[in-house]
Amino acid sequence: MAKKFITNSEDHPIKHIGFIMDGNGRWAKKRGMPREYGHKFGAETFKKVMEHCCNLGIKATTFYVFSTENWKRPQKEVDSIMKLLDRYLDDCKKELDEYDLRFIFLGDKSVFPDGLRNKMIEIERLSSQHKYIVNLALNYGGRDEIVYAVNKLYADGKERITEDDISSALYTSESPDLDLIVRTGGDLRISNFLLWQSAYAELYFTDKLWPDFNTDDVDAAIENFLNRKRRFGGV
Ligand code: FPP
Repeated sequence: MAKKFITNSEDHPIKHIGFIMDGNGRWAKKRGMPREYGHKFGAETFKKVMEHCCNLGIKATTFYVFSTENWKRPQKEVDSIMKLLDRYLDDCKKELDEYDLRFIFLGDKSVFPDGLRNKMIEIERLSSQHKYIVNLALNYGGRDEIVYAVNKLYADGKERITEDDISSALYTSESPDLDLIVRTGGDLRISNFLLWQSAYAELYFTDKLWPDFNTDDVDAAIENFLNRKRRFGGV
């Protein structure tokens, strides 16, 4: 099937970009609306940004959708995010081939209701041969992921564990190293996102709230990244 995306470059200098999508609640509050309203618009931003990154030819894009700590939020808000996700998992199926998207869900899926979990597993299976990786971090925590990886290696009988072993046991084993993390919403922290993978990542923070973030802002973050000198510990 003809691909809908025309990639600008088969070999984009960024191989893996991550987004911490913050500010939905404040965006809604500014409009006198409940937080759920912000998540609804945030989901629209997610779709545009995801399509744009694949369109640019970036091999892997990761979105921090729901952390292991986000369960502490009011039930109504948690339910609204799960509902958005459930609807999106139905909608995205028709785009997998057309957009060459490969979805991978980062995090322990066992806590989700059967219906939602089965949709995640089915989408991972249907898209497993596609090119552009879209990692959705759901019930995800960076420390939790490292513990999961080490336990997996231990269960496999590994005695001396190397860095490569850990990288390949993480949920992100299919993705290249992380180059750039973009965080919206003004806070200057990582919040337990891709802790192992961000060892040499560049960080980009913007005050824009996630629902206001757009494809021009993605381009600005990438341009900023391209003007940085990465030394990876060298000189
Ligand atoms: C952080 O903003 C946002 C979240 C914890 C949820 C992110 C969820 C979405 C963008 C919807 C994703 C939907 C799909 C279909 C992938 P916040 O609520 O902490 O904002 P605040 O800091 O202003 O309170």
